[in-house]
Amino acid sequence: MAQTTPYRTYLDEDQIPTAWYNLRADMPTKPEPMRLPDGTVAQFEHIAPVFADELVRQELDDQTAFFEIPAGVREMYKVYRPSPLCRAYNLERALGTPARIYYKFEGNNTSGSHKLNSALAQAYYAHEQGLTTITTETGAGQWGTALSEAAAHYGLDCDVFMVRASYEQKPFRRSVMQTFGANVTPSPSQETEIGRKMYANEANRSGSLGTAISEAVERALHVPENRGRYQLGSVLNQVVLHQSVIGLESYTALERLGEYPDVVVGCAGGGSNLGGLIAPFMRDKLDGTHPDTRFIAVEPKSCPSLTRGRFAYDFADTGQTCPLVKMYTLGNGFIPSPDHAGGLRYHGMSPIISQLRHDGHLDAVAVAQTEVFAAAERFAKLETILPAPESSHAIKVAIDEALKAKESGEEKVILFGLTGTGYFDMTAYESFNNKTMVDHVPSDEELEAGFSTIPAIPGVQAAGGLPLE
Ligand SMILES: Cc1ncc(COP(=O)(O)O)c(C=O)c1O
Repeated sequence: MAQTTPYRTYLDEDQIPTAWYNLRADMPTKPEPMRLPDGTVAQFEHIAPVFADELVRQELDDQTAFFEIPAGVREMYKVYRPSPLCRAYNLERALGTPARIYYKFEGNNTSGSHKLNSALAQAYYAHEQGLTTITTETGAGQWGTALSEAAAHYGLDCDVFMVRASYEQKPFRRSVMQTFGANVTPSPSQETEIGRKMYANEANRSGSLGTAISEAVERALHVPENRGRYQLGSVLNQVVLHQSVIGLESYTALERLGEYPDVVVGCAGGGSNLGGLIAPFMRDKLDGTHPDTRFIAVEPKSCPSLTRGRFAYDFADTGQTCPLVKMYTLGNGFIPSPDHAGGLRYHGMSPIISQLRHDGHLDAVAVAQTEVFAAAERFAKLETILPAPESSHAIKVAIDEALKAKESGEEKVILFGLTGTGYFDMTAYESFNNKTMVDHVPSDEELEAGFSTIPAIPGVQAAGGLPLE
């Protein structure tokens, strides 16, 4: 079979999924609901001032397995989907592994990543609701680029708060957003209350996703006539839902090849690409069809929410304006070191991924950025794609798994998500090449300081996210 598998498998246009798959519907233990700071479970009316109505419905629905993809979104998916499922023959040969390695490549659009899959959906629903403005945060810049692109397509104004470290490191990413007509502001900024508060403290000036989220939410709530909403590029259930197109297409393509993965690997920032990639395979694990598939989330050692965080309710943002979600978190006040994988610098994690991890259905590993870049360069030379630093976390662990298969002589099938390209990350590649890149690993004390920002919630948890006495 190995000889007949093409380097790249492209599905037909009519094989783009017609519905997103909501894994929550098939999870035996559902992710916990969002809560307000007083402990009450958040309802539609609590969240709708911040997010577009249809997105709130999707967010709260853990029963419906499939949501039809609107024609207006599918039309745009056709411009860059189906994305290829690639067989990493060159990498396999270089490793000398009996494993068959596949990767789903999502970098084939201007945003350079999978983020467009959700950006189009979110902007579409905002437009359908008659809103004028959408606001967001961006770290590495891929999400901001994707949303700018989507906003331009549906005729919406787009305000992007970009983590200041990335704003300065990646001026061209900013220029792409501006090319799509977005208004891009470095965060923390002087334009919002929370921004000014954070900026006042020198230590917070490089910014974080948590702060940028607070700024974007504040901006959305001040759009005249209530016609602004905030949109988030990860973490939320709705985003994982939209990203299920990655997993659904991979599933169909592998089926066509007569393959099924033994191991599925994805990088995890807020968990959206991973949640989308694994969705249909995890369904098979949970219902017993393929109980032995292994799922591995890969995160940076510098921001280890799944491997060293607490499973607790926490705010999604540093300004503590959003509802609380139950997730693995380092604390909303945790400011990660300015590592180069900007998209993985988030204190929390998708409640879906968190619950799966908590219940033992998914493993997590943390890797150092120098080993990630070594894997990235090896991959680029062999497979002709310069990967994003975020995606390269998955490459690193896919290689590790392939080497384990070599040692044991097993013909494992490994699937990983190659979420995007790294052409705007040349400062990072440069610092790896000239050996100035350092590996940041937070100390236990630094983590404790972060945990101390997790709030107490009456009847739910004590301060720091600890159980009630
Ligand atoms: C290329 C790329 N991959 C992965 C991620 C991580 O996000 P998530 O965990 O939501 O997929 C990002 C986030 O910005 C990204 O830009």
